[in-house]
Amino acid sequence: MSIDRLQAHYGFTKMPFSRDIPPQGLHPHPGHREAVARIQWCVSQRQLGVVTGEVGAGKTVAVRAALAALEPARHQVIYIPDPTVGMRGIHTAIVTALGGQPAFYSGVLATQTASLLAGELDERARLPVVVIDEAHLLGNQDLESLRMLTNSDMDTGANFALILAGQPTLRRRLKLAVLAALDQRISTRYAIAGMTLADTVGYVRHHLQLAGRADPLFSDDAVAAIHQASRGYPRQVNNLAVAALIATYAADKAIVDQQAAQAAITENSE
Ligand SMILES: Nc1ncnc2c1ncn2[C@@H]1O[C@H](COP(=O)(O)OP(=O)(O)OP(=O)(O)O)[C@@H](O)[C@H]1O
Ligand SMILES: [Mg+2]
Repeated sequence: MSIDRLQAHYGFTKMPFSRDIPPQGLHPHPGHREAVARIQWCVSQRQLGVVTGEVGAGKTVAVRAALAALEPARHQVIYIPDPTVGMRGIHTAIVTALGGQPAFYSGVLATQTASLLAGELDERARLPVVVIDEAHLLGNQDLESLRMLTNSDMDTGANFALILAGQPTLRRRLKLAVLAALDQRISTRYAIAGMTLADTVGYVRHHLQLAGRADPLFSDDAVAAIHQASRGYPRQVNNLAVAALIATYAADKAIVDQQAAQAAITENSE
């Protein structure tokens, strides 16, 4: 079965539940909106913020939406998708983004990073916004090094914002005694929960609408089953919804019913 045939069967103008949604096409459920608002507040206050959530909860999407709304001329966004590059990698990314030539020795590089971060706003009128995604993968040493970066500055009035996004273990790790100093500097914390049933209903409808189907294509009990199995986490909702569309197509039916949703859920758990 091809995507083209599936699209033709349902009369979609594009495949629904896809990953590449422009910021203005995102579904504005409260958890998403709140995460975006907190990240933006944190940037405007030049502070340290932490956004957590289960796998597929919408952390990266919220971060990207918040960053996309920033005025480009007045911000220098430094997005680090994977912190397993280590502190050296993180420092190098920051220095490079701020137009520096990364120093060879780690100690020098750390100092260089701090001073470039501190100077960017004064010298070029651009606020550096450092975002570390998958931040639960940062080691304790890395987190301590990040604290050192914030140290020179964030107590007196920072010249940059730092956002950490990651799985819920990040929140727990920050509570460790060795990281208390960093934990105390966090001004904004937000945990993205799963969507409520009402949100999931709206979310599914939203994605179908974007694909050109404004009429109810999923039965209520099909959406309820998908909601329950996904616990309202968007990526899992997407996966189950697509599988249910395929099951419905294979059964040559027009409406995604509970049976199709159940088939998708079963297939997904195998
Ligand atoms: N507000 C939204 N509107 C539309 N789709 C969304 C929204 N939030 C999340 N999604 C969908 O859910 C998928 C997963 O979101 P995202 O990648 O942000 O999750 P994550 O929390 O970063 O997960 P991971 O822990 O795996 O990195 C996205 O690719 C997107 O398709
Ligand atoms: Mg992510």
